[in-house]
Amino acid sequence: MKGLILSGGKGTRLRPLTVTGAKQLVPVANKPVLFYAIEDLVEAGITDIGIVIGDTGDQIRAAVGDGSQFGARITYIPQEAPLGLAHGVKIAEEFLGRDRFVLFLGDNFIRDGIVPLVEEFRNGQANCQILLYRVPNPEAFGVADVRGNRVIRVVEKPKDPPSDLAIIGIYMFDHNVFDAIRQIRPSARGELEITDTIQVLIDQGFTVVPKIITGWWIDTGKHADMLEANRLILETQEPAMLGTVDDTSQILGRVVIQRGAEIRNSVIRGPAIIGEETQIIDSYVGPFSSIYHHCFIQGSEIEHSIILEHSKIIDVPHRIEESLIGRYVEISRSPIKPRAYKLWLGDFSKVGIL
Ligand code: G1P
Repeated sequence: MKGLILSGGKGTRLRPLTVTGAKQLVPVANKPVLFYAIEDLVEAGITDIGIVIGDTGDQIRAAVGDGSQFGARITYIPQEAPLGLAHGVKIAEEFLGRDRFVLFLGDNFIRDGIVPLVEEFRNGQANCQILLYRVPNPEAFGVADVRGNRVIRVVEKPKDPPSDLAIIGIYMFDHNVFDAIRQIRPSARGELEITDTIQVLIDQGFTVVPKIITGWWIDTGKHADMLEANRLILETQEPAMLGTVDDTSQILGRVVIQRGAEIRNSVIRGPAIIGEETQIIDSYVGPFSSIYHHCFIQGSEIEHSIILEHSKIIDVPHRIEESLIGRYVEISRSPIKPRAYKLWLGDFSKVGIL
């Protein structure tokens, strides 16, 4: 089997982080979201992987390379515009050929991986297998109507959902999907929808099998989901100590201190991860925080937040919580009079002040 990961989307719901950076490279527990998808595929024995890339393709190529760091072989497939998930599959037809494959949306996460699901599809007769998850707000997703071991209908973001079974962004297909894609037209949002494609397969009598998963699933498209994914991954991590911690610091619970990180006169209360070459001085880092590499935190308190690389937080008088802070950001006290907020914020930034 082959794998196809879609990483072409613009990530508008994650702005401003995605104004300059690829949404699939935003780190969760100090690892880009996209890497979890690649690792899930490799774990299921799928090493021949295509990645569909868009405007941020150069960043994705730089981070993933030829795939050897994952034990995979990566083929990049450029998409000229984000014309829909089914369009991403369509342009990968030559790469996928007649193989069965897993389609993985680069910002989707499931806790338990895909090993048994891939096994079943690889050895079975089904033409398509979709993963489903019970959600309180199905209208925000593709939704499936299921009878026994068959999917009888799928609808994209319905106002009146036929069930609470959201379609997870991890799908398995055989080559019949390409003919189905040729029969669909762009949706109201102007995209070739994978949901419409699956409906064509159902209408034409192909077997579409549902798999309802119970371990958590997160689509990291929005800020709150990103923080939640971060929390869930950090809760499962094994503690590790690869940096330095001085005698006046306290490390409590599941904490990972990555290579070259330095903790001085600070308290780190896990689950938390401190990235490579990051310095934490006279500070408190609380549960569910991921501080990425080359950050500098001094005289400040941070909890339940994700901070991207090369950012500095210095002498901030109130605790920072539930925050997503981009790359090369600086937050510090204004040193000179008049005492005032001095903000240099990019487009789509959001700040909550006290
Ligand atoms: C896409 C699919 C939707 C699916 C979701 C999962 O939605 O169209 O059917 O439920 O991914 O993440 P989008 O994120 O493009 O709105």
